[in-house]
Amino acid sequence: MTRIGIILGSTRPNRNGPQVAHWVLETAARRGDAEYELLDLREHPLPHLDEAVPPMFGPSVNAHTRAWAEQLAACDGFLVVTPEYNSGAPGVLKNALDHAFAEWADKAVGFVSYGVHGGVCAVQQLRSICSVLGMAVVSRQVTVSLHTDFENHTVFTPGDRHVTALHTTVDQVLAWSAALAPLRAAVPVA
Ligand SMILES: Cc1cc2nc3c(=O)[nH]c(=O)nc-3n(C[C@H](O)[C@H](O)[C@H](O)COP(=O)(O)O)c2cc1C
Repeated sequence: MTRIGIILGSTRPNRNGPQVAHWVLETAARRGDAEYELLDLREHPLPHLDEAVPPMFGPSVNAHTRAWAEQLAACDGFLVVTPEYNSGAPGVLKNALDHAFAEWADKAVGFVSYGVHGGVCAVQQLRSICSVLGMAVVSRQVTVSLHTDFENHTVFTPGDRHVTALHTTVDQVLAWSAALAPLRAAVPVA
């Protein structure tokens, strides 16, 4: 069965991210069309990239890098849940992306963002980064406003339009994950 990793890209204390990520996980899992797994970066702590050889040029040696890469290798595609910090993606998320290379390639990725303006600037950055990593970046995305989709900026209350947008995003991620399966089979990750 297709396996989709849901990456939660915020790790700070008191973060809003888990509410959004669990909504994504529960909404997606109810579809019954794939396996969905939450990959919370707080549960996968990584130092700033400390591999002597960049991941695109050779296998990583550090245990934390290999453990993260193993989690990614088991997935066929990804949904990235990201906040926006200072008009960009969180550093911890960029660092997690930098820690792998082959494990991202030929896999689909869709985005669920949240922030004062829906986190769209973070997603624009991530689209570019994920393209360089050889991923199929799907067009649809879910854009959650801190003002209108959270009560008091803290309690997530997603409206129906977000459910619809999430399903379309998941549809695209699953379609592209399936379409790219022959490429992944041709170059298996070591
Ligand atoms: C350091 C920092 C910078 C932020 N910059 C932005 C920003 O540029 N645009 C925006 O829409 N929200 C910004 N915010 C608001 C966050 O989107 C909001 O706090 C969100 O809940 C952060 O996600 P988290 O709670 O999961 O960490 C910023 C928040 C922090 C902590």
